[in-house]
Amino acid sequence: MFKVPLNTTFIPFCLLLLFSASIPLKSVAQSVVIPIETQNNALVLQTDTNKHLGTIYFGKKLTNNKEYLQVPALYKQTSDYTGVLNSAYTSSGSRNLVEPAISVTHADGNNSLDLKYVSHDLKQIDNNVSLLSIVLKDPAYNFSVTLYYKTYFKEDVVEQWSSIQHQEKGEVTLHKFASANLYIKSAGYWLNQYHGDWAKEMQAEESKLTHGIKTLDSKLGTRANLFQPSVFMVSLGKPATEDEGTVLFGSLEWSGNFRTDLEVDFQDNLRILSGINNYASTYTLKPKEAFVTPVFLYTLSTGGKGLASRNLQQWARNYKLLDGKGTRLTLLNNWEATYFDFNESKLAGLLKDTRKLGVDLFLLDDGWFANKYPRNGDVAGLGDWQENKKKLPNGISSLVKEAQNNEVKFGIWIEPEMVNPKSELYEKHPDWVVKQPQREEHYFRNQLALDLSNPKVQDFVYGVVDGLFTKNPDLAYIKWDCNAVIYNAHSATIKNQNHFYIEYVKGLYKVLERIRAKYPKVPMMLCSGGGGRVDYAALQYFTEFWPSDNTDPLERIFMQWEYSYFYPAIATSNHVTDWGKQPIKFRTDVAMMGKLGFDIVVSKLSSDELKYCQDAIKNYDALKGIIWQGNQYRLSNPTESSVASMLYLDENKSSGVIFNYLVNYRYAVNSSSPILLKGLDPAKRYKIQEINLYPGTKSSIKGEATYTGDFLMKAGFNPDVNSSRTSVVLKIEAVN
Ligand code: DGJ
Repeated sequence: MFKVPLNTTFIPFCLLLLFSASIPLKSVAQSVVIPIETQNNALVLQTDTNKHLGTIYFGKKLTNNKEYLQVPALYKQTSDYTGVLNSAYTSSGSRNLVEPAISVTHADGNNSLDLKYVSHDLKQIDNNVSLLSIVLKDPAYNFSVTLYYKTYFKEDVVEQWSSIQHQEKGEVTLHKFASANLYIKSAGYWLNQYHGDWAKEMQAEESKLTHGIKTLDSKLGTRANLFQPSVFMVSLGKPATEDEGTVLFGSLEWSGNFRTDLEVDFQDNLRILSGINNYASTYTLKPKEAFVTPVFLYTLSTGGKGLASRNLQQWARNYKLLDGKGTRLTLLNNWEATYFDFNESKLAGLLKDTRKLGVDLFLLDDGWFANKYPRNGDVAGLGDWQENKKKLPNGISSLVKEAQNNEVKFGIWIEPEMVNPKSELYEKHPDWVVKQPQREEHYFRNQLALDLSNPKVQDFVYGVVDGLFTKNPDLAYIKWDCNAVIYNAHSATIKNQNHFYIEYVKGLYKVLERIRAKYPKVPMMLCSGGGGRVDYAALQYFTEFWPSDNTDPLERIFMQWEYSYFYPAIATSNHVTDWGKQPIKFRTDVAMMGKLGFDIVVSKLSSDELKYCQDAIKNYDALKGIIWQGNQYRLSNPTESSVASMLYLDENKSSGVIFNYLVNYRYAVNSSSPILLKGLDPAKRYKIQEINLYPGTKSSIKGEATYTGDFLMKAGFNPDVNSSRTSVVLKIEAVN
């Protein structure tokens, strides 16, 4: 049986079980209490006398974990009428009166579900990660749900999901099947959500949640984040700032339709229910089959948004992002330099430019394939993954060799999930295409999605990637694009059309699993006609993502700022292009804040511009360890100030880089006041020098002075940003 740890605070990363014997409160006799604790926070569950499992605490960890039991008595709220308002996983059709986490029709047609605690089990995976599972069962039906809580102690991150199964005499219909059901008590809730469109990704909006349900969702099928990503923040008590306040960051690890309901109930509690969107996705579950939901991810910070983001980034690099602690390749992409108009000799020139510029890899974009319907524009050829003989008579392999002759690597663009109706693939396999048999086709960028719920299509998509690597073993990089949403959702082969949206995503993951089993670490960029797809399920297979086709650096400052709350810089591909009106220095500096690439015509650069880029790439190579693996501190927010400023600092607080930009171009706007640094060691002395200087310019910053961390964090530093110094990159280093 379970033991009661007397002083639980010594036991790190623990999920502890207390017994009724040690509990002073009469009302909780015989109850099971499960504190799910990370370094700073706790989510505490408790069974009531009916064995319903509810949340009794969500917030900062208490020193004495027995005191969690005294929390419920502190609340003098109105009756909840149900006794299950705080349910850890709210079922529908029995006592519940609010938005359910799960809703089912049993094999006998009955619509009610009541889930009671049966048992729980804790596995310590390593000294930082534990996995708790809690089994809940319906007393009237042979139907159970297992709730999973995976905790990452140091990072204050929790992943939650559920597994639904039954042994009824026939199939059970799942109408709703959330991954997680949080229950939070606070004096007000502020939601920071995101919306977007092509070239306008990650637009933030903050509002106070009012009573009722606010739903964040997607019904797009593929590139599900195009209009709304699943990432969000909720501040508790008052809107959190960068460094103050309590804020929860949440997100669903799922690359398809998602749905997050944020319900402020009649007692003023916040209920967060997140999972696969049940829109057009009623799921039929056979006896003994398990429906495992995707993971809902969250981190809670009582030190503002900055801390939450650093925890999440740390977690992502340590546990989620493919090769998160590894290295990345700088590159030259030809998309905006050539679009579809290239041939071998043009590419030979670009390969030389790749070397001249000093980046690691040349990335050949869209337009290299298809013969019957050549890919000379976005209207034809997609799906026909054979080299276009006219453009590339000697094939990809000769380009890979040519790249080697130039001492650079070679990467290639694909969009293997999609097809143009004008293609041989469509002609041969119309049944592989997502479309309604009796309805007119409707296109997004002149194309349709392939039906990844069909195993033959999975083989085909896998074969596109495997074929490229088999023929070209030295291929060093893949850009995986996905430019269309799903209209007319229908599979020619799937038996139950209600399963289509879910099976599409599972099919995609099956393909990616196979690719990664054979090619574990080849860098792959997750691109989606801009930033339509990034999430942490997909990032298990990809080393980086493309945030947006909008590479105007001024826009990017804002967009990258928002992305950085949820994703680390090492995963964020930023390319220098000709978008926007900013000079090459500004464009390059902004792109250096993540994973640097270029998509420009190098031969059109002036000698100073080229020299600038070459030197900046050298600086980047020297600093990339800090940019990729360091801690990010947002110093001055471009939405609140005329100057944006972001610091990347290494773990030892010894070296860092500060990017500063003018974001307001009105008369005489400048960095009139110093910017306070963060995260430094107050006792260390630092020197600050400007780098990335444009040829022929001198810095107005005297690099000789030294300052204590204390001074820089309290009095600050002025990067001297103004209309003639719109982009200022500073290197900060501790001196002995
Ligand atoms: C959309 C991507 O976002 C672009 O970078 C480029 O690869 C095009 N697709 C190619 O069609």
